[in-house]
Amino acid sequence: MQIVPNDFQDQFVRGLVHRMNNILSLFHGYLGLLMDEQKLDPVAREGLNKIKDGARAASDLMDRTNALVRPVSAIWREVNVCDLLCQLRPTFESFCPAKVKIHVDCADNLPLVWADPARVRIALSELVQNACEFAKSRVTISVRANAGRVQGELFNSSAEQPEHWLTIGITDDGAGIPIEDGGRIYHPFFTTKRTKSATGLGLTVAMGCAQQLNGTLVHRSRKGETTFEFTLPSRLEQQNAKPAVA
Ligand SMILES: Nc1ncnc2c1ncn2[C@@H]1O[C@H](COP(=O)(O)OP(=O)(O)O)[C@@H](O)[C@H]1O
Ligand SMILES: [Mg+2]
Repeated sequence: MQIVPNDFQDQFVRGLVHRMNNILSLFHGYLGLLMDEQKLDPVAREGLNKIKDGARAASDLMDRTNALVRPVSAIWREVNVCDLLCQLRPTFESFCPAKVKIHVDCADNLPLVWADPARVRIALSELVQNACEFAKSRVTISVRANAGRVQGELFNSSAEQPEHWLTIGITDDGAGIPIEDGGRIYHPFFTTKRTKSATGLGLTVAMGCAQQLNGTLVHRSRKGETTFEFTLPSRLEQQNAKPAVA
């Protein structure tokens, strides 16, 4: 499934998100003012709280939709994935309930990747957020270098394929993904979560990022162990490669 939008869709969605965000900032601003009012009737306060939750969910939806369209200027540079994981650790921990521990394991002498770090950060955040929500007690993030054929569908299949890859595996010990859901978990708006905050866009966004970075995203799942593998071409072979995102 190709997720990266074409130019028309890109412009349309970007415009829509921009206008929606303007409307939502009015909501957030006036809600803040109204809720600061001390003498507010309890029923009115409860109603305002519900509107606030709705506005927050709508903003979240806009953020994820925004992540699906290409950034105006993606910043490509050499990225040390393990350093990036260290920086992101507090964010990852904020996704996890206290009973779930995050373990990070980086192999020695890993190569750099040539990527837009913002895309890597968005994709990993979505994958770790899911892992934390589904895990029973443990999420393991492991980074390995590998060479040869990559698993999964490459977006830019006409480009010469690099032989070296860096794979970031995110494994949780949760109940797993039922076989019947396996093919559609990447589809926009597919969710099995019953919480109001679920958008069903996290994996679509993560897959979109993988495609924009000339990488792949695949998963393996069974009861008690689910792994998502986010794979990026390594810097070794990327010195002269043209990025997918201008
Ligand atoms: N680690 C996981 N373990 C089990 N199911 C998962 C996992 N990650 C994703 N899924 C499934 O994929 C669905 C879509 O995920 P996502 O696109 O992130 O949307 P959301 O998190 O809003 O449900 C989830 O609702 C769930 O059914
Ligand atoms: Mg999600």
